[in-house]
Amino acid sequence: MAEVKPAAHGRPSAVMLIAIGALAALAAAIAYYGTRGGALVSTGESDEAAPAEPQGPVVSMSLPHYEADLPAGPHRPLVQSACNLCHSAQLILNQPHFPMKKWEETIHKMVANYGAPLSESEQKEILEYLAVIRGMP
Ligand code: HEC
Repeated sequence: MAEVKPAAHGRPSAVMLIAIGALAALAAAIAYYGTRGGALVSTGESDEAAPAEPQGPVVSMSLPHYEADLPAGPHRPLVQSACNLCHSAQLILNQPHFPMKKWEETIHKMVANYGAPLSESEQKEILEYLAVIRGMP
């Protein structure tokens, strides 16, 4: 068993006094800032002003709308309305020239997979248009 040194008696050393003083000052500072919601002890609240409240309910708003500039062709108004339903008709203009078969598949995909509400005859008319503006032999 190691020998336990008895606690030193007599005057506390100067180093000890300084340490106790520093701890007391720190505790006082924490207590002081704590009551003020200062930075030393966080209260979870920010001193920054809250964001401005909205000015009443939003009744309406208009978002920018960019209509794709589809070139002239057969049944253009039908294509304009039918193919603008879910996405911009610009998507058509972004495509390269495709053979009829490929356009037929694309239209079929819009109807079968995504639910484009198009009758058989409308699909034929749209195909006609696509063949003219983005078709290839
Ligand atoms: C019911 C919604 C809907 C309608 C109506 C619609 N599309 Fe789409 N279309 C989509 C979705 C969803 C995609 C995205 C597919 C993807 O990201 O892979 C898409 C993508 C496309 C693409 C990109 C290439 C591809 O094959 O994915 C083309 C071209 C296209 N549509 C053409 C048309 C044409 C032409 C019409 C008009 C007949 C049309 N779309 C109508 C839903 C629709």
